[in-house]
Amino acid sequence: MSQQTDKPWGGRFSEATDAFVERFTASVTFDQRLYHHDIQGSIAHATMLARVGVLTEDERDAIIQGLNEIHGEIERGEFDWSVSLEDVHMNIEARLTAKIGITGKKLHTGRSRNDQVATDVRLYLRDEIDTLSEELSRLQRGTIELAEREADTIMPGFTHLQTAQPVTFGHHLLAWNEMLQRDYERLQDCRKRVNIMPLGAAALAGTTYPIDRAYTAELLGFDRPSTNSLDSVSDRDFAIEFCSLASLILMHMSRMSEELVLWTSAQFDFIHLPDRFCTGSSIMPQKKNPDVPELVRGKSGRVYGHLISLLTLMKSQPLAYNKDNQEDKEPLFDTIDTLKGCLKAFADMIPAIEPKREQMFEAARRGFSTATDLADYLVRSGVPFRDAHEVVGKAVGFGVEQGRDLSEMTLAELQQFSDVIAADVFDVLTLEGSVAARDHIGGTAPAQVRAAAQTAKALIAAR
Ligand code: ARG
Repeated sequence: MSQQTDKPWGGRFSEATDAFVERFTASVTFDQRLYHHDIQGSIAHATMLARVGVLTEDERDAIIQGLNEIHGEIERGEFDWSVSLEDVHMNIEARLTAKIGITGKKLHTGRSRNDQVATDVRLYLRDEIDTLSEELSRLQRGTIELAEREADTIMPGFTHLQTAQPVTFGHHLLAWNEMLQRDYERLQDCRKRVNIMPLGAAALAGTTYPIDRAYTAELLGFDRPSTNSLDSVSDRDFAIEFCSLASLILMHMSRMSEELVLWTSAQFDFIHLPDRFCTGSSIMPQKKNPDVPELVRGKSGRVYGHLISLLTLMKSQPLAYNKDNQEDKEPLFDTIDTLKGCLKAFADMIPAIEPKREQMFEAARRGFSTATDLADYLVRSGVPFRDAHEVVGKAVGFGVEQGRDLSEMTLAELQQFSDVIAADVFDVLTLEGSVAARDHIGGTAPAQVRAAAQTAKALIAAR
């Protein structure tokens, strides 16, 4: 180290870093959360260096023991993080040298912070993807179980937020599960590209030491070493990919949230959310607000923001590593934290939803939701579909005037609109008959909902 600066890279510098610049360029305040993976990577690196003869076994053992002790110090909150040591990597390395002396300075042989940080972030993200996958599976299981319980519950299905046709509540919940299933698959797919090891790329061009990258990759559980050193230290597309799938998950959760907010309103009144997921108003004593879904809906915004931050961060960067990339961490970390919180809240809350079955049924009954069923009935009796549409439109008009649903009209009243209508028409005008008739793969019939729930559960059990 030079006299003018205490930095590990201070050799060629003749004056100390400006105090503000030191704080401005440091990342330790936020990248210290990588400590576990930084140490994990260093232990594997030292193990590999000893295997290829660059370190002695004693040196390796001293380094590993020192790193393990440092891990303990950090976990116990005893580690003194220093902004003047810039980042998590140099803080840990400096502490290692303070503890074990000159051998500590050998750890950085054949690597650079450029491949080190890329490795740390990938190891960290891989673990977080696994935790998020568990939480997403829990949310899916809760959603599917509720769907099974509500396979026979009838509610209005909507298009344009207008009552369209009756569906089962179970079917609606399984639509949510389809979105979540694709999200899960995207998460696993992203993991494949995250789990590639940059270590060995060193600063950008590789290293002159006889390193064994396949061995280090194996020690760290990576699928393989990366194949181009310039690309390894420079690209953050894996983090962008993660933020884009996180944005999709939050987009889906914002849609689920919106429906929950609507359904808990006095105007819909389809479900009850237990008090523990709601809060009150400080001025309006009657209020019970669906805060959890509202907040999840709102949090989608910050995750979309992080995606745009990372895309913009990477845009136009020349190869290879640039300090810009230090800015990858906060958006990525906040995306992970936000997603984890939202998934936890939903995984806890969804199974606790209490449907108000009569209200849902009444809403479906009020909205002429079996009008299509009447048209299909006429078609089965030989009426062309367009004419059937016209006939039913007139019958609905009559019902609106009279304040009565199609199923509440007499046979004689219905026959004014078409003489092919017979007494069996009432079988298709009931809500139960309507949903039961949609009995094919992907349909809303209770039997199909039960079968689809089984298939969905099997997919999760096989993970
Ligand atoms: N803190 C840096 C980052 O997060 C580590 C790599 C720094 N490399 C360098 N040559 N300045 O990107």
